Amino acid sequence: MSGNIITIDGPSGAGKSTIARLVALRLGLRYLDTGAMYRALTLHCMLAGTHLDNPKEIAEAIKSADLSVELSLHGPMRVALGDNDVTEKIRTQEVTRNIHYVADVMEVRNYLVEMQRKIGEAGNLVTEGRDQGTFVFPNASLKVYMFATPEVRARRRHAELKARGTDTSYEEVLEDVSKRDYLDMGRELGGLKKALDAVELDTSELSPEDVAESIVKLAKNRLKMQTRKIDKNALEAARREDEERRKQK
Ligand code: C5P
Repeated sequence: MSGNIITIDGPSGAGKSTIARLVALRLGLRYLDTGAMYRALTLHCMLAGTHLDNPKEIAEAIKSADLSVELSLHGPMRVALGDNDVTEKIRTQEVTRNIHYVADVMEVRNYLVEMQRKIGEAGNLVTEGRDQGTFVFPNASLKVYMFATPEVRARRRHAELKARGTDTSYEEVLEDVSKRDYLDMGRELGGLKKALDAVELDTSELSPEDVAESIVKLAKNRLKMQTRKIDKNALEAARREDEERRKQK
């Protein structure tokens, strides 16, 4: 591994994407969104008409996925299946609901973990997911485990849905959040867990900017990393993209 790797793991709705993007911008690192990779393979299986309750069919289907990702220092991570850019298409609720079928399959995890480690070989990476510090990059330079109470995450999600005019009760959203936690934590392979050497950050009462700044501080103190001023346009683009993404989920 050449250069620093920072892993950020945690449950959905803890604010990982926004925070990981901000940290990457401040430290001049590339940003890897591993959830997007699981989403893309899920979309591939859905488009291929795979029976999602059949792990063998999923393992077979991903052989023809031709997944590629394009990381950058400023822009979003682009995801493609063959020649088709699916960066936006992977954000639908249908994909979100189906991911657990695909993410539970061993062949899927092996395929993506190998891809992630290959990307990590060049270092200079902030990578975000569920198993990055525990399994994919056990020797990462800095590991962060981010969490917020299910109630706070459900409240954030409920407010987003309400702003979009979706008529869902807070109780339903809380149930969805708890169900996803249960599925993500109970996974035998790549389940959500805090690495023993990870720094824990509770994002319940903090803004994404404050959380990002505390990670940047850790990187400066522990890894002696240099910070950069965030390019205003890049920051605005990152914010807009995260907002769009949250609206679509
Ligand atoms: O982070 P995001 O919500 O896009 O992740 C979508 C889903 O992908 C998660 O709920 C989880 O089931 C799966 N995932 C995973 N391992 C990762 C990243 C995501 O299993 N490293």
